[in-house]
Amino acid sequence: MILSGKRILLIIGGGIAAYKSLDLIRRLGERGASIRVVMTEAAQHFVTPLAVGALTADHVFTDLFDRQAEQDVGHIRLAREANLIVVAPATADLMAKLANGLANDLASAVLLATERPVLMAPAMNPKMWSHPATRRNRATLEKDGVRFVGPNKGEMAEKAEAGEGRMAEPLEIAAAVEALLDDRPKPLSGRRIVVTSGPTHEPIDPVRYIANRSSGKQGHAIAAALARLGADVRLVSGPVAIADPTGVTTIHVQTAREMNDAVESLLPADAAVFVAAVADWRPESEAGEKIKKADGDGPPQLSMIENPDILAGIGHHSRRPYLVVGFAAETQNLLANAAAKLEKKGADFVVANDVSAATGVMGGDRNRVKIVSKSGVDEWPELSKAEVAVRLAAFIAERLKTTAV
Ligand code: C5P
Repeated sequence: MILSGKRILLIIGGGIAAYKSLDLIRRLGERGASIRVVMTEAAQHFVTPLAVGALTADHVFTDLFDRQAEQDVGHIRLAREANLIVVAPATADLMAKLANGLANDLASAVLLATERPVLMAPAMNPKMWSHPATRRNRATLEKDGVRFVGPNKGEMAEKAEAGEGRMAEPLEIAAAVEALLDDRPKPLSGRRIVVTSGPTHEPIDPVRYIANRSSGKQGHAIAAALARLGADVRLVSGPVAIADPTGVTTIHVQTAREMNDAVESLLPADAAVFVAAVADWRPESEAGEKIKKADGDGPPQLSMIENPDILAGIGHHSRRPYLVVGFAAETQNLLANAAAKLEKKGADFVVANDVSAATGVMGGDRNRVKIVSKSGVDEWPELSKAEVAVRLAAFIAERLKTTAV
């Protein structure tokens, strides 16, 4: 296990997302980490030190001026003895304090005293997250080397206030922790790999577009898994509701043409993995104004034209990456279609998956894939998308092993 023997200091800030930190403790524990917890005073309004202590089986540190705790461990030791400090939830207040060097309670004193890496999982109201002050603080913290995971978009505790500010899920935070503390050999270091992920949006008019059900989960997981093996990963993502993976440079695009341009601009690369569900067609022209529903006219006729096939373009490119991997999402004749795609698109491998509604693959968390190449078909068992990603990354690393970096 990547986190075996690793010590993590978890700082729990005062926000409703603090309840998820209890789950985070379990997730990190399952992965072999030992966890010590500091709670701010505000955090204790949301979860109790008793509950946290029951999960860590350790003293929970809450007070900078607790004579006993200071004598036994002390805030300087807390700051030094960890391999990583995780702040979850990282409130606007905690971010502001560290960005400005304030240290008037145990959590902020530890953060200022440490030389260890710090990972923050922000959680706050979307207005607070988008406030210029918080944006400034985040930029300062990033410059100082603090890493971030999330926040995600979605429903907030205040029901009416959906937006960006939800704390990343415990599993995402655990994955970010693993990525930061992973000291296994990195077979893909020195390799540049381009990954596409998510759907594309093809505009009809300023308010309408054509899209599909791709969530980006599989592509993002692959990008993250490749980065964990040391690759310099450039992820070109269509519009998705999930967070940018940690350790990856993400380029956000809307349309197939933008995705195509972004991918071209990232060549040369050692490998390219085309996971995105790119729209095959787009409306021939985008109306400048919203198309009005006029009485008696009936629905407008949409004239469609073909989008560039990004995979095929790169598969036959003069600067083709050494390894080109495509995906084939099919609802019928899976293997025959995948094999045909190999040839037509110039791919070395096609990862074929059945996306019939009954499989729940589109948007779901699990996947069952077959790796199709000229030399045959390799069937993988049903796995989580994260596990598919890890296996595919290892597979790519194996294939690149014999080429010069
Ligand atoms: O032909 P089909 O869309 O099923 O091919 C799927 C594969 O091709 C995927 O790897 C997808 O990312 C890629 N693709 C692409 N550009 C398109 C259409 C598909 O890169 N316009």
